[in-house]
Amino acid sequence: MKGLILAGGLGTRLRPLTHTGPKQLIPIANKPVLFYVIEDLVEAGITDIGIIVGYTEERINIVKNTVGDGSRWDAKITYIEQDAPRGIAHAVSCAREFMGDEPFVVYLGDNILKSGIGNFVNEFKNLGAEAGILLSPVPDPQKYGVAQLDDKGVVIDVKEKPKIPKSDLALIGVYMFTPRIFKVIETLKPSWRGEYEITDAIRSIILSKKYKVISHIVTDWWDDTGTAEAILHANHLILSDLKYKIEGAIEEGAKLIGNIELGQDSIIKNGTVVRGPVIIGKNCKIGPGYIGPYTSIGDNTTIIGGEVESSIIIGDTRIEFDKKIVDSLIGRYTSIVSKNSLPKGYRFIIGENSEIQL
Ligand code: G1P
Repeated sequence: MKGLILAGGLGTRLRPLTHTGPKQLIPIANKPVLFYVIEDLVEAGITDIGIIVGYTEERINIVKNTVGDGSRWDAKITYIEQDAPRGIAHAVSCAREFMGDEPFVVYLGDNILKSGIGNFVNEFKNLGAEAGILLSPVPDPQKYGVAQLDDKGVVIDVKEKPKIPKSDLALIGVYMFTPRIFKVIETLKPSWRGEYEITDAIRSIILSKKYKVISHIVTDWWDDTGTAEAILHANHLILSDLKYKIEGAIEEGAKLIGNIELGQDSIIKNGTVVRGPVIIGKNCKIGPGYIGPYTSIGDNTTIIGGEVESSIIIGDTRIEFDKKIVDSLIGRYTSIVSKNSLPKGYRFIIGENSEIQL
């Protein structure tokens, strides 16, 4: 089986972080979401992987440079370009040549699943199905593709973002298909949001009643990291399993509580309290100050004074701030500094679509 990861999309709900790069590269616990996806595929025995990228040279190159040729996972990665964001089904159709005659897994590059996809891939192979979907109960099904099952648990319908959902079972962004899906996609019309919906393609297979569509309900957590809240939530979930690992230095007088990962050439200074789970990358200077639970700090970051809790600092950032930063998602090359100069007041130099709560 081959794999297909979708890493196009404009990530509009995550601007300004997605102005230059795709949302799939935003790190969770200091690792891009896309890397978790590749690892899940490789763990399920799928090492021939296509990645759909778009739509500008800059966005495409940033994915290629970050992910590379796949050799670090013993996988082979092929990049496939999509000319514009026209929906998941359109993105899948771009991979027609790459897939040839093989069945394949489609994995949306912004989805993250705690327990991977190994069981599901095996089930699909063993049952000889035409399509396979993963489902999870959600409190707000109208925001997702939603499946309806009969009393034996067989999928009888799926609908994209229904106003009145027939169940609370959302389609997770992991699908399995045989190459027959390409013919089905050819028959689709754009939906009300102007996209070729993969849910419509699956619906057409179900309604034809000729082929088997299997479903699998995921009981462990999963997250669609499409918003800042969802990313912080995923960060929380991933950090809950963090192990204690110290490669950097800890000065005498620094207090570490709970599970903390500290990267090479990083230092936690005297007078700092770090309460885990907290991950700190390489070449960081932390403290004096307080770093609270569920915080991820990327490489080359300096934090002096103040408190940071339950936040993601992507990296290459300087924070010299005497207040508390909470539930924040802070992009690269950022500086947050308290100064006592006059006139007194807050000073901002921030990009479009930024959000600040004081
Ligand atoms: C997409 C799919 C939807 C699915 C969701 C999972 O939604 O269209 O069926 O439930 O991913 O993450 P979108 O992110 O395009 O709104």
